[in-house]
Amino acid sequence: MSDHRDQTRADLLIGDLHPALTDPTLEAMNFLNEVAGRFPDAVSFAAGRPCEEFFELDALPRYLLTFQEYLESEKGADADQVRRMFFQYGRTKGIIHELVAEHLAVDEGIAVDPESIVVTVGCQEAMFLTLRALCADAHDVVLAVSPSYIGLTGAARLLDREVWPVRETTRGVDLAHLVEQIEAARAVGKRPRAFYLVPDFANPSGLSMDLDSRKALLSLAAEYDLLLLEDNPYGLFQAEDGTRLPTLKALDTDRRVVYLGSLAKTCFPGARIGFVVADQRVDVHGTAPVLLADQMSKIKSMLTVNTPSVAQAMAGGKLLEHGCSLVKANSGEMEVYRRNLRLLLHGLEQRFPAKGPLQVTWNRPTGGFFVVVTVPFAADEEALEYSAQYHGVLWTPMRHFYDGSGGDNQLRLSLSAVSPQQIDIGLDRLLSLVADLDTKENETR
Ligand SMILES: Cc1ncc(COP(=O)(O)O)c(C=O)c1O
Repeated sequence: MSDHRDQTRADLLIGDLHPALTDPTLEAMNFLNEVAGRFPDAVSFAAGRPCEEFFELDALPRYLLTFQEYLESEKGADADQVRRMFFQYGRTKGIIHELVAEHLAVDEGIAVDPESIVVTVGCQEAMFLTLRALCADAHDVVLAVSPSYIGLTGAARLLDREVWPVRETTRGVDLAHLVEQIEAARAVGKRPRAFYLVPDFANPSGLSMDLDSRKALLSLAAEYDLLLLEDNPYGLFQAEDGTRLPTLKALDTDRRVVYLGSLAKTCFPGARIGFVVADQRVDVHGTAPVLLADQMSKIKSMLTVNTPSVAQAMAGGKLLEHGCSLVKANSGEMEVYRRNLRLLLHGLEQRFPAKGPLQVTWNRPTGGFFVVVTVPFAADEEALEYSAQYHGVLWTPMRHFYDGSGGDNQLRLSLSAVSPQQIDIGLDRLLSLVADLDTKENETR
């Protein structure tokens, strides 16, 4: 008789499961969480989560009420319809699409038909729907800026799609390398379907594209008949006052850009609200073209059915309270991130002077959540574990964001969820780690 309580006996072989399950991309997140869990007293520059000081429990019921009032007064819904809207299954493409469209108009100067928006369970689902819809078969490959956000690579893995890396420069994307990769893919019979990038304060590099590069990228996309997947979770968080650069979608006159949005950093991640703007027209066997968003909606209906209405209502309430401007909604958060970026960059300068004994350099993003530091040791999992255990500081190895090789001596510091005091203590600890590992490296030379 088999013993169901025997926990040591394996029932399945990992080799029989989906290959993504043994892919380092999918292991990376678990590893970071696991290390963070084991060293709760370590200062964490690892998590890219938003700051928590503006989370307010009382706001949640208020947001619901605000959204309810909007449905009644603006949409003419009666009590039954409102109840149904909150409690029932809902519209596959979402119920806050008009508010999201208004946000895009107000904050980004992007004019889109609300019907071209699919409200998703986080941007993660938007990426999945986009890749699923766009890639017809194994000939279709995705190009992605490298280093790249791990969620995109992970989604491609789950869909068995190849991701071809495109190098980054200090101005954003290396356009010459993009062309090289498009041509190389075509030369081996592949179809480069879309190019994924984060033009504003990228995760993980913190870098942004300048205006000329944005325009050049759009022309190039037209020339090579390529779609651009623009992911923009951090665009609002510019460190200096002044006008922000236009998004690719705002510059897009040719429906080249599929815009991926996340309200995780600008609303709150607990709601898990994201969206995709897919205004491309699809020819379905010669009939009148239909929106790509409607094709994605079919996929969504088999994935998450609809994005939870209650979560949408809360995000919707927050949008309504600020005239649909997430810039206005985030005035406090923006100050925190600005201050933290300033403190982090200043703290690095103080601890690692240019002519000092330790070879440490870093980039200087003009906004966003991340700074990349180059260190004189292999910034790998082992070093992170050592850092957590003996020096009490956590960071993210940059190699996690390179699909293959790269970033070996680099780490990402996230500034969004730390206090000024933690920045100070964390950087002191980073200094002691670098000094410690630098000595060890010298001893072995
Ligand atoms: C570049 C980028 N895209 C997307 C996301 C994920 O968004 P969501 O939490 O809405 O799934 C993140 C989150 O860290 C990110 O950094």
